[in-house]
Amino acid sequence: MIPVVRLVTIHPVLTHFTIGGLPLIVIAYTVAVWRRSPSWTLVGDAALVVTAALTLLTVAFGLVSNFVLPWPGGLETWRWVHLGFGVATAVLLVTLAALRLAYRRADRAARAPVLVVAVVAAGIALFTGWIGGEVLVFQSGMAVRAAGDGALAPPLGHPAPKSFLEAMRQVRASWASIQTHLAWMLVHHPREEDFRRIEADAQRIEELARPMADFGGKGSKSPDTLASMSEALGGNADDILTAAKKKSLQEIARAIGETSGTCADCHEAVRWK
Ligand code: HEC
Repeated sequence: MIPVVRLVTIHPVLTHFTIGGLPLIVIAYTVAVWRRSPSWTLVGDAALVVTAALTLLTVAFGLVSNFVLPWPGGLETWRWVHLGFGVATAVLLVTLAALRLAYRRADRAARAPVLVVAVVAAGIALFTGWIGGEVLVFQSGMAVRAAGDGALAPPLGHPAPKSFLEAMRQVRASWASIQTHLAWMLVHHPREEDFRRIEADAQRIEELARPMADFGGKGSKSPDTLASMSEALGGNADDILTAAKKKSLQEIARAIGETSGTCADCHEAVRWK
């Protein structure tokens, strides 16, 4: 199937207008302040008003993506930081544009504070763009079909889990990381660092299977099933670890298959009931 534009891919298209407009705004205001130039101020003001208006659309479709995308657990911090800084960028640009429109006549050559706000807005937009591009898309595969719409997102840190759900979210990330490293090696070439990464991720699942059993036992409807299946998951992870130490792609592939089988068994027995 040839992909068409989806509701969730309109936001990344629109971000290019915001990002494209910002250097023009900063350069124009820099020259305007430096030379006390009304014509460069006009360039800055025009670029600012157009960019601010388009940024409102960027944010609107960002909120659409935030709402429509399935967000695999484990990415929430970056999700909300990206949203917060995106909104902050838009608020700064729209406020500055409104003030410039209101005070343009009185202040025909832009002054330093205008430039400072424009530079701050550009800095925040840069950080927001880095999260959106590097962390959410390139690292985590949000809205990327080949990455299971984020289901294959590798871990973004290992905080100690405080609940069953948190442990589960981190298990998903480590499981995903093993899948993608295995896939890379199957498609390209076995690589020492990938075997080591798989060992580390398998170890992490083993570590998480213990608190899962403990959290799951408390107050859950089927504590015995949860505890025994968590143990089974720990056993599967140990098999992956052994296979990775042996550098056997066949055995890693079989062990990760078994592991996914355990995910499905437990979700069938407990989660989707
Ligand atoms: C011991 C049973 C058990 C095993 C094994 C298990 N899960 Fe889960 N999983 C659950 C339950 C129960 C929930 C729902 C928890 C809730 O909503 O509070 C869940 C929820 C999830 C979620 C949703 C988290 C969220 O953000 O809402 C993901 C993702 C997940 N599991 C992935 C996996 C993967 C991947 C595996 C295998 C590597 C796996 N699970 C193995 C029981 C299990």
